[in-house]
Amino acid sequence: MVDISPVAGVPWWRSAVFYQIYPWSFQDSNGDGIGDLRGIESRLDYLAGTPAALGVDAIWLSPIYPSPMKDFGYDVSDYCDVDSRFGTLTDFDSLLREAHRRGLRIIMDLVLNHTSDQHPWFLESRASRRSAKADWYCWADGKALFRRPSNWNARFGGSSWTWDPSRRQYYLHSFLKEQPDLNWQHEPVRAAMWKVARFWLDRGVDGFRLDAINWLGKDLRWPNNPLRFGLRGYTRQDHRYDRDQAAAHEIMQELRQLVSAYPDAVLIGEAAADTPGGPAAFYGHGGDELHLVFDFRLLKSPWRADRFRRFLSEYVPAIPKGGWPTIVFSNHDQPRHIDRYGKDGDALARARAAALLLFTLPGTPFLYYGEELGMRNARLRYGELRDPYTKRFWPFRPGRDPARTPMQWDGSAQAGFSTGRPWLPLTPEYTRVNVEREIAEPDSLLHLYKQLIALRRASAALSCGDVSLLETNAADCLVYERSARSADGRTERMLIIVNFSGRQLDVNLPERVGQTRLLLSTSCYASQSGPMGKQMRLGPDEGRLIQLDV
Ligand code: GLC
Repeated sequence: MVDISPVAGVPWWRSAVFYQIYPWSFQDSNGDGIGDLRGIESRLDYLAGTPAALGVDAIWLSPIYPSPMKDFGYDVSDYCDVDSRFGTLTDFDSLLREAHRRGLRIIMDLVLNHTSDQHPWFLESRASRRSAKADWYCWADGKALFRRPSNWNARFGGSSWTWDPSRRQYYLHSFLKEQPDLNWQHEPVRAAMWKVARFWLDRGVDGFRLDAINWLGKDLRWPNNPLRFGLRGYTRQDHRYDRDQAAAHEIMQELRQLVSAYPDAVLIGEAAADTPGGPAAFYGHGGDELHLVFDFRLLKSPWRADRFRRFLSEYVPAIPKGGWPTIVFSNHDQPRHIDRYGKDGDALARARAAALLLFTLPGTPFLYYGEELGMRNARLRYGELRDPYTKRFWPFRPGRDPARTPMQWDGSAQAGFSTGRPWLPLTPEYTRVNVEREIAEPDSLLHLYKQLIALRRASAALSCGDVSLLETNAADCLVYERSARSADGRTERMLIIVNFSGRQLDVNLPERVGQTRLLLSTSCYASQSGPMGKQMRLGPDEGRLIQLDV
């Protein structure tokens, strides 16, 4: 693979732009209404390798392994194959080859905490207390007749314990009952899972996104969690014993060691918003755990300048040396950010300003398919829902299906996604919000994403430079500078200003910023370039990218 980093010696994943593909929903090639690997391959030109492409550097594929799909692939029944809905291992190899040919890397989703209850490991473990895999999962006797081993609640509702009549014991599941938790304190489990990691790395994948790492360690004496105030079962407990134990860090260290034999591979962790010590904890000391960790505090944040300021003043500085932040606003578990930010304002203006943040805040950006178009959350009827978690809390929580609808390629019957009936309905806006249409419109969100990705790629300051926050008169504006020294000794400096309010704002920049030149405004109405003064008037929810010292 070519080195895409604009700064020599900087690992590729620091300056890369990642694109998350939810395989069910990207492109269907065989008319069954479900996306697949051949479909993804047929759309690679959209992502990379041609001048017209979006210009991303890596794809994160949500799980493609064989699965009963109770949790849409996060319940794996075979870690070393591809689910027949998505294709075959041969299709995967072809996708990987074609992606690499375009300079596009692929990272897989590795689900470590649990398997499907249909995985042969679990079938053997549940068969008898004397089976060779008896200790591969978290089994426990009840405390007394009909009393569960502890009060632990599952993330997706209900108790974390389910009674198994054949073993006459309970098994632990931190998510759905069809997702039994592996026992990571049992050495053969680690060995088996590390074999899986090598299987994919040897095949040529470029790293892993690690699912639900907070749950990898638990107190195997099963003490009750203390209770606290909360609205539903899961939040009514202080999760002191069922997650966030030291073992999770040991496991990440082991994996990091394994991956060090593959110098370019990247490890990206999914750490919950309430991880003790914040996501920073999973970078380890001296870089001995993960390369990148998602920050859910930013991912769940509303459209407020103080929240983003906090990201810069607190969360970024907390990351240990050698670590690097991530910037993510949407994924397959959260409502899309265009609606989260747009709840009480101009959704599109905010999505445009958010794009500027995504590509200029310090860290590696992750896009969720369709966000570059401004795809919205679908309003679904109960009968249309597929995800058990979404069904369980409907209509009180938005759930996950609304953000998982098919990619919108064009204005034709199924938006170019499938010739069959899509597994989830399209959003009604698809005739207007789609790739074909946005390619034709110079002011589209898609063009803004492309433009920002290109600017970022050409700028060491934006992709891997230092950051400093600037104080101004306007509390609703976030103002920060990115800077980097280039090989010829010159310092490149970029200033970013985002107005988080729905009003016009006058911002006075400090004298020391020097000469300014506007490179880009996220407002379709603003003048697009030219010299500027230290005082500027920003439109509602407008973001500006300004070059300094020109
Ligand atoms: C992660 C995944 C989510 C899944 C859960 C259990 O949070 O992102 O989709 O349901 O883990 O595997």
